[in-house]
Amino acid sequence: MAEHQVQATVNGQEVTAMVEPRLTLADFLRDRLRLTGTHLGCEHGVCGACTVLVDGAAIRSCLAFAVQMQGCSITTVEGLTPDSGELTDVQAAFRAEHGLQCGFCTPGFVVSATALLAERPDLTAAEVREGLSGNLCRCTGYQGIVRAVQSVIRSRQATGSGHEAEAGTAQAEAGAAQAEAGTARAAGVTGS
Ligand code: FES
Ligand code: FES
Repeated sequence: MAEHQVQATVNGQEVTAMVEPRLTLADFLRDRLRLTGTHLGCEHGVCGACTVLVDGAAIRSCLAFAVQMQGCSITTVEGLTPDSGELTDVQAAFRAEHGLQCGFCTPGFVVSATALLAERPDLTAAEVREGLSGNLCRCTGYQGIVRAVQSVIRSRQATGSGHEAEAGTAQAEAGAAQAEAGTARAAGVTGS
């Protein structure tokens, strides 16, 4: 099958690759860039495990093609974490509130919650549940997940840092450039 060139920014680093039109964004991220924090569960848009940010919006990477990402800025769960290696407040809250059991769904939840909180910093518990309803946790760890998101809301309200998620995303896009300095090249995709 003929390949097409795609240029995008992934976690702050510019990536150029030749891809078949049928290659999903999820497979591109996992297999070509080795960003395996993006998980694949159902592979047909139901579970949300593959959620990534594209231009700031949460999308299911199993339902998007890599070739569609031309000119886009993609942030995976790896790109949320600052260069210093510290957890984001969302990640820290998931840990503190036991928002995970097996952890398979966790990257998708963390990415979705990050986008949700950037968009709506003042969600009620019901709105948190609705906002995360596109992500499935097969361990049924929802209580801890909702608690974690609520604790981020409370702590951001207390510190007046309601837009920390957006800051985190920008930080990811800028900062991950150094952290990921060799990833794309190591995967043999830059300039190929
Ligand atoms: Fe993409 Fe389930 S793997 S939604
Ligand atoms: Fe196990 Fe969510 S923590 S599927």
